[in-house]
Amino acid sequence: MLEGRKVILGVTGGIAAYKAAELVSRLRAERAAVKVVLTRAAQEFIQPLTMRVLAENEVYTGLFEGSEPLPHVRLAAEADLVVIYPATANLVGQAAWGLASDLLTTLLLTFQGPVVICPAMNAQMYNSTAVQENLRRLKERGYIVVPPETGRLACGEVGPGRLPAPEIVLEVIRGALVPKDLTGLTFLVTAGPTREPLDPVRYITNRSSGKMGYAVARAARDRGARVVLISGPTALPEPHGVAFIRVDTALAMREEVRKNFDAADVVVMCAAVSDYRPKEVHPEKMKKGAAEMAVTFVQNPDILAELGTLKRHQLLVGFAAESGSVLERAREKLRAKQVDLIVANDVRQEGAGFEADTNIVWLVFRDGRFLELPRMDKYLVAQRLLDAVLGLWKGGYGE
Ligand code: PMT
Repeated sequence: MLEGRKVILGVTGGIAAYKAAELVSRLRAERAAVKVVLTRAAQEFIQPLTMRVLAENEVYTGLFEGSEPLPHVRLAAEADLVVIYPATANLVGQAAWGLASDLLTTLLLTFQGPVVICPAMNAQMYNSTAVQENLRRLKERGYIVVPPETGRLACGEVGPGRLPAPEIVLEVIRGALVPKDLTGLTFLVTAGPTREPLDPVRYITNRSSGKMGYAVARAARDRGARVVLISGPTALPEPHGVAFIRVDTALAMREEVRKNFDAADVVVMCAAVSDYRPKEVHPEKMKKGAAEMAVTFVQNPDILAELGTLKRHQLLVGFAAESGSVLERAREKLRAKQVDLIVANDVRQEGAGFEADTNIVWLVFRDGRFLELPRMDKYLVAQRLLDAVLGLWKGGYGE
């Protein structure tokens, strides 16, 4: 996702500066080219050598201190994105008021692209009118401000001011760098399992973690779409920037999908919807009795197949969880449910399907074409899926 992208990481002098080393490693792991700018105060907390080794690149410590005088113009012209992690109250203030007292602030005035800024400081400083006004000014100017987390701070206080973990900022960076080519479209995405109750304490469910569906929602959001995410019970945090609806059962998921269907342009049914539910839900906890017991199940509605009969302008994407004859079965589902595209995964494969961070999928189209993708992170699978969706959309949907 970030391969070949040029990122400048500005580090200012806060106690959380050590986390910047991890961010450099994560950026390098995604093959971004990273140049680090350390302010004078940052160097009290972290050594330039650490950053030079991790970034495998030059580290800049001042306007006049390297072999190249005044490097800010060239650095700004080369970079795709600047991220400041952590940003002190002083940096926030200088950036908000356009001051240029050192290399980092001078660079910010010269740079024309996206800037991600991650304030981290004492909670009272963060909540102060001055800092809040400065952050508002930066937001109005188009800076992407990643709010600090609330928790125990280095000064011993508890409140907002903790620097978010590198993976959170990495996600914001990825989002800032992808093209906003889905702007104007509304995506309805389902994710996770459904839970079908037997009694107040027991239920039938499946192994879906929600990772694949959440990745689709995040990727569509990053590309500028409005996203409604309808999720079964998962342990994942609610993604920011999407309208989030939590459901439990297949019937509840169906109701929410139907409510949001008219306003949707693209529907991606990634949820592992239970095909059956117990016929009877016991109002009281079932007591242990006979050595054997039988439960009768009734079929749940097939939400996707229903949408296939209702669709007007909507583009419908289904998933197919298979354990053999993947292409053949995916094609059958595509026809039977009248969808435009099926994402098929073989759930027996290592690194694919349920719970894994990666997936291995086939994108199967109505006209018989298919595209087999190698194993990749679920977010990257989602991006490839969205490329295919955009291709279909441009080819005639929504007209
Ligand atoms: O959540 P993860 O742990 O990341 O795992 C990802 C995944 C394996 C759940 C995902 O990649 C996946 O395959 N999702 C579809 C699971 C599924 O229910 O497949 P299916 O072949 O049974 O259903 C086909 C399609 O019909 C799916 O789009 C499904 O959402 C939909 N369906 C199924 C049954 C039903 N009653 N209503 C439906 O709408």
